[in-house]
Amino acid sequence: MSLKLDIVLKIDFNIQYQYQLQSNKFFTNNTMTKPLIADTKPQLMTLKPGKYYWCSCGSSSKQPFCDGSHQGTSFTPMEFTITEEKKVAMCLCKDTKNTPFCDGSHASL
Ligand code: FES
Repeated sequence: MSLKLDIVLKIDFNIQYQYQLQSNKFFTNNTMTKPLIADTKPQLMTLKPGKYYWCSCGSSSKQPFCDGSHQGTSFTPMEFTITEEKKVAMCLCKDTKNTPFCDGSHASL
């Protein structure tokens, strides 16, 4: 009985470890409690009018936008709308208090 439990625990650990190695995304599972820092500087870009989904978990490979990588975590993308074309500084450190835009918080990471 004890032997079976040990084997299950080792397999679970290995699956999680393999996932982390393959994706190069540590803590991207349902135990993730803090967002990953995608970058320590904002991404400057011009957005056209439309609806966007900002990645709040930091795992997306399409920063600053969601690519679905948050699945299995408690994070969800933040929907926001741009009404007229404008230049923006998108937060990539995920520590901003002005989501989804940079508020300079990356300077104190
Ligand atoms: S991938 Fe980060 S919120 Fe969706």
